[in-house]
Amino acid sequence: MSRDRPDGTGRPRPPDSPGATWRSQILEVHTPPESVPAIYSRIAPVYEFWARLAESKARRAVLARSRVRDGEAVLEVATGTGVQLVALARANPSGQVVGVELADGMLAQTRRRLRSGGLSGRVALERADARILPFADTSFDLVVCCYLLDLLPRDDIPVVLSELKRVLRPGGRLVLADMTIGERATHRLWDALYQRGIVLTANCRGVLAAPVLEDLGYHSVEREYLSQMLFPTEVVVARR
Ligand SMILES: C[S@@+](CC[C@H](N)C(=O)[O-])C[C@H]1O[C@@H](n2cnc3c(N)ncnc32)[C@H](O)[C@@H]1O
Repeated sequence: MSRDRPDGTGRPRPPDSPGATWRSQILEVHTPPESVPAIYSRIAPVYEFWARLAESKARRAVLARSRVRDGEAVLEVATGTGVQLVALARANPSGQVVGVELADGMLAQTRRRLRSGGLSGRVALERADARILPFADTSFDLVVCCYLLDLLPRDDIPVVLSELKRVLRPGGRLVLADMTIGERATHRLWDALYQRGIVLTANCRGVLAAPVLEDLGYHSVEREYLSQMLFPTEVVVARR
C-alpha cells in the first residue's frame, strides 16, 4: 500500500496538489508507527487519568455528534481503554458494535471494561491496524475514531481516512476527535514542547483532518474546536 498519496500511485506529491497546505501546517512525527502500540500498552493502566483531565469534553462532543440510532452498525477504531466503546454500545442496544485496537495493553483494558459493563457477549473486539481494517467495504453506518490521527505520520493520515471511508456505507457518518493546532498562543504550548522533543504521549501533536477528508471526497464536513487543560482538540464530522 502506498503511503505517498491517497490515490495510491506512490508518485511524489507536487507542491500545489491537494494536501500541500495541511501537510505544511502539521509537524512530522518523532516516533515510528511500529513503536507506538508498545508505548500505549505500557501507559494503558494510567491512560484514563490523562483522558479525564484533557479529553472528557471532546468525548462528550463525539458522542453527541455521533447521533447513534439503535440498530445501527457501529465501528470504533483505536478503542484505547474502551470508555467510548461502552458508551456507543449502550446507545445502540440492538445494533452491531465492533471495536478495533492495535496495542495489547489497551485491548486488555477494553476487554475488562466490556466485561464489567456486561457487554462482552454483544460487542466484538479485534486486534487490527487502522491502516488495513479486516472488514468488507460499506459495512458500517457510523465509524468513530478518537486521538489516532494525531499519532500517525503525515503520510498515514490519508491512508487511514481512506480505509475508514471504504468500510462506511454510502451516506454513513465518520466522527473524529484529535489534537489539533491551537487557535490561541496558550493552546500551542503542547506543539511547542513537541517541536523541542518533549513528547506528551507517542507522537501526539496537532493535526487538521477536514482538508484531508475533503481531498478524499467525503462530504458535509463540519469541524468544532475545543480545548481542555490548554489541550486543543478538533471534533470533525463527515459523511461518505
Ligand atoms: C491516544 S489513544 C486514544 C484512545 C481512545 N480512542 C480514546 O480516545 O481514549 C490512541 C490509541 O490508538 C491506538 N493505535 C495506535 N496506532 C494504531 C493503529 N495503527 N491502528 C489501531 N490503533 C492504533 C493506540 O494503541 C492507542 O490505544
